[in-house]
Amino acid sequence: MSDGQVADRIGTADATGPDVARTSLAGRDAAGPGLAGPGVKADEVVVLDFGSQYSQLIARRVRELNVYSELLPFDTPWSEIAARKPKGVILSGGPASVYEDGSPHPDPAIWASGVPLLGICYGLHLMAQGLGGEVISFERKEFGPAVVSVTDQDRLFAGLEPEQPVWMSHGDSIARLPDGFRSTAHTGSTPFAAVADPDRRLYGIQFHPEVVHTQNGRQILRNFVLDIAGARPMWTPANFIASNVESIRRRVDEHSRATGSDGQVLCALSGGVDSAVAATLVHRAVGDRLICVHVDHGMMRKNETELLQTAFEQLGVRFIVVNARDRFLAKLAGVIDPEQKRRIIGNEFIRVFEEEAAKLGEIAFLTQGTLYPDVIESATSDMEKSASKIKTHHNVGGLPDDIAFQLIEPLRYLFKDEVRAVGTELGLPDSMVYRQPFPGPGLAIRIIGEVTAERLDTLREADWIVIDEIKAAGMYREVWQSFAILTPLRSVGVMGDGRTYSNVVAIRAVTSEDAMTADWAKLPYELLGRISSRIVNEVPGVNRVVYDISSKPPATIEWE
Ligand code: XMP
Repeated sequence: MSDGQVADRIGTADATGPDVARTSLAGRDAAGPGLAGPGVKADEVVVLDFGSQYSQLIARRVRELNVYSELLPFDTPWSEIAARKPKGVILSGGPASVYEDGSPHPDPAIWASGVPLLGICYGLHLMAQGLGGEVISFERKEFGPAVVSVTDQDRLFAGLEPEQPVWMSHGDSIARLPDGFRSTAHTGSTPFAAVADPDRRLYGIQFHPEVVHTQNGRQILRNFVLDIAGARPMWTPANFIASNVESIRRRVDEHSRATGSDGQVLCALSGGVDSAVAATLVHRAVGDRLICVHVDHGMMRKNETELLQTAFEQLGVRFIVVNARDRFLAKLAGVIDPEQKRRIIGNEFIRVFEEEAAKLGEIAFLTQGTLYPDVIESATSDMEKSASKIKTHHNVGGLPDDIAFQLIEPLRYLFKDEVRAVGTELGLPDSMVYRQPFPGPGLAIRIIGEVTAERLDTLREADWIVIDEIKAAGMYREVWQSFAILTPLRSVGVMGDGRTYSNVVAIRAVTSEDAMTADWAKLPYELLGRISSRIVNEVPGVNRVVYDISSKPPATIEWE
């Protein structure tokens, strides 16, 4: 038993679930991942995924060092891994025990490959067992914070103090080291908190360097990736842009030549950072052959469509706004069920988008702002997905699988923070790059009950005040999301000398790493007070404001 079973206690769990290890991340974009310039492959460190909650986090941490890293299924044949010429391989943790029947093991060719290896927790146990040592169930299990004493200041711990606060999460332990290995750190419970065979550049650690609770985890990963494995930090936004612009242009040109077409590329722009960055990148590659379509479903925030239009017109992008407000409102009339709202908006969006596309003549490609976490997540089994379905998420731009275009998904291998860095490098304004996430169905799922034009106006004004005040307080980037909800409640109030019986608006502000878990933001009372008094004074029909102090779980971020 290893880290998977206690993941919830840590609260930094990433989106990856245990099934990821058994699935493939096939279906690569033609642009290809991990390029550090036109035709230049960046140095890469592969993360083999044995089902840890944190596998994705390991790849993220490596990329923070400007080294390209990809998560591969644990059973990827060594020949496939070797073909990538990785500078190093990190074996992730996982919930199984290496001595159990059916537990996940890598291709044994890995052990004699000569490639520098770092085993983390379950990965350490695999390495110990695979090289002739022994792993046993451990009576002194360690979960949570611990302090390791580094006894051998080898390269992995270079620059660090002998006492290191770390995060442990294991029920198995090494009983006997393989030949050539020595212990380099211990805790009160285990003599093998870290082990090494420096001659073969094989390293293993019992704790998790990827979680923030391991104080110097990033330094330990840096020591492995940059020093021991010798990977060069070539994975930068500028290199990413250069290589992708080149490969997208080549792909579109080749298609045009082969078919004699104009090679037009379509993009559904929602206003969110992902589609904005994807569109800007593709625009650099193909210029006027890109046409952006923004479907205004009427559920946008105040001025959002106008700001988007201005920003993209300034960039010289062909931009079409489809005003479909009445159409969406008509479909939503009388609907109060959240899932039904989501379905209606999702379906109608596709219809409107397809109608617009048909007017534009022959379109060869569609650009989408798919991110790496989406790719990993969609690799999980359908069964797991349906078992845990809480809401039907609809991405504006989320189109059906059988759409008749070839896809250009330049962000397919990027994490969100990398997308922002690329956006900044492309010259997009901070207001677009650091925009808080906004759900595809927009304000419709923040109006509890029926969506009407009047209620949309009320919510839009209240929401604008929330954002305005949060920005003025300098907290816009600190909180993950901050917005208003129009509740179906009415309450009695007094304004001037008269009685009112009006709407109750709720404020929601949360902090989060990845939207999987979230905490309500501890906004200063003065700020909440300003938001409240402005809303009741400036928004007609609202006489009461409440603050939502629920975390996720058990609540969700959005109310519907
Ligand atoms: P919940 O409410 O599930 O939201 O805690 C998690 C994150 O997802 C966003 N969200 C959506 N994003 N389409 C989207 O693109 C959707 O249908 C959708 N529903 C929720 C939500 O704003 C939060 O960031």
